[in-house]
Amino acid sequence: MSKPETLVLKLGGSVLSSEDQLPDLVHEIYRRRRAGYRVVAVASALGGTTESLIARGAAFPAARDESFRAALLATGELASASLLGLALERAGIPAALCTPQQIGLTTSGPTLDADPVALDRAAVEERLDAGQVVVVPGYSGHDRRHGRPTLLGRGGSDLTAVFLAQRLGADCELLKDVDGIFERGPSSGDPGQAFDRLSWADAVDACGPAIQPKALRYARRHRVPLTVSRPGGIASTRIGDAPTRRRVTRPGVRPLRIGLLGLGTVGQGVYRHLTRHPEQFELVGAAVRDLAKPRQHAPDPRDLTVEAWRIVSSDCDVIVELTDGNPDSTSLIEAALREGKSVITANKEISAVRGARYRRLAARHGGRFVCSASVAGAIPALEWARRLASRSVRSIEGVLNGTTNFILGRLEQGASFAEALNAAQTAGFAEADPGADLSGRDAACKIALLAEAAFGESPSLDAIRRDELSATTEVPEGNQRVRFVARAWRRSGRIQAEVVRRVLPATHPLASVEDEDNAVIFELADGTRHALGGKGAGRWPTAESVFADLLQLSRAHQRRSAGRRKEKAS
Ligand code: HSE
Repeated sequence: MSKPETLVLKLGGSVLSSEDQLPDLVHEIYRRRRAGYRVVAVASALGGTTESLIARGAAFPAARDESFRAALLATGELASASLLGLALERAGIPAALCTPQQIGLTTSGPTLDADPVALDRAAVEERLDAGQVVVVPGYSGHDRRHGRPTLLGRGGSDLTAVFLAQRLGADCELLKDVDGIFERGPSSGDPGQAFDRLSWADAVDACGPAIQPKALRYARRHRVPLTVSRPGGIASTRIGDAPTRRRVTRPGVRPLRIGLLGLGTVGQGVYRHLTRHPEQFELVGAAVRDLAKPRQHAPDPRDLTVEAWRIVSSDCDVIVELTDGNPDSTSLIEAALREGKSVITANKEISAVRGARYRRLAARHGGRFVCSASVAGAIPALEWARRLASRSVRSIEGVLNGTTNFILGRLEQGASFAEALNAAQTAGFAEADPGADLSGRDAACKIALLAEAAFGESPSLDAIRRDELSATTEVPEGNQRVRFVARAWRRSGRIQAEVVRRVLPATHPLASVEDEDNAVIFELADGTRHALGGKGAGRWPTAESVFADLLQLSRAHQRRSAGRRKEKAS
């Protein structure tokens, strides 16, 4: 069976002008993971860093062996790759930093303008197979013969990306601050028309310095097609064998109008992401239970209301429902869908019990009902379940509740049950009523949602056998670990599911799921297994998933608007 596809995503200096841009790049990586890709992220240095390092090195004369200068300049990419890793970890996405030496990215030729010649492909594959995003500092290599660091020439991160893509048999995408390649380049005042496609021959002139010429030559020689795009954009330029085609200009599109219900742990994270993209999203208002409650990320108090109905009946396009247990939630969602609005929720109970009906209602009225964040935080589990459905899933099993897993870890370390539960609540992992976590109900909702996505049906929640976590739950010592494992499988044509306490040997893949992490393993009819891991609860992992839903709706909105204007114009 073929492996999931791999994508090498190069994050250019223009989209890495400072740490503030890292969340956007995390969204881009997450989007590719949701689409089923294994991602290798190649980082350029933060804007201006290389220039300042060159200037510092210029105080010293050129040496016979320029390896110190190479090492000095390479610190820029190492720093940005490390920062990207931290940003991925915060969002709950597993990542591994891979320096050129660690992945055997060897070069030959001049120290400051070397050519890549070899890669330890297995070292990269091993981390991708473990479900990690592989983060590679671009621009630098390693000269094994002389045992010294090298650089791939100015703009060499492009070459790192193209070379990795070629050796891994991967797709290659270069993220820049423009929607692709334009006739005259964005700095010329009038950039002219953009290209949807560029042939290899035309790309040489059209790209100019936008892509390192050496990287472009390498891509052309080895037939590695390149896509040039912008974070959050819907247009791109594809450079490859196909003939050049100019792009029909897309007129500006108004932002998607968002109404937010709830500004708790997750709501504040989503609010923070939204406000960083005023060109894409406009917040029409947010409903909260308590106006006076102190919040880290929140709009001006004058834009808050306690009347959720006011938000739902406003002229917004999307309602993001993130309340914790508002008794009116279902009526609010239903009303929004009937008005043709789209609804995003992270509420598992609502999604599991009413999701199918809401999707039908949304389809009838022209909106969407989406609930990716209902299952497993930063793990795109529902998207994978849907994708694997066509290949006949035999069973799904996983650790799907962060709170209980976190508590088990604290109990192992000697905390009391009350202390462990309190810590889970303080960290924002537990539900408003932690009874849903402890009773297995939360995990039951999640396995039901996964079953629905993978098998097209799920057992009723009451038919899912559940074990409870309580102060009397025993935690074994030694080589065994207790995990609450959710499982769904097909037997005699019917879907069954359970959430049970299992004592696992330390070697079991679910035994090493720690703290609030979640993991899901899909077993297919052909015997292959597909495992995914990451943080399953908490502000940033859950906000990442909600925001991915929002970005998806925004792209659909941009395409629809562009299509409508094109129709009008013709
Ligand atoms: N309470 C849930 C958990 C939050 O602990 O997994 C994420 O769904």
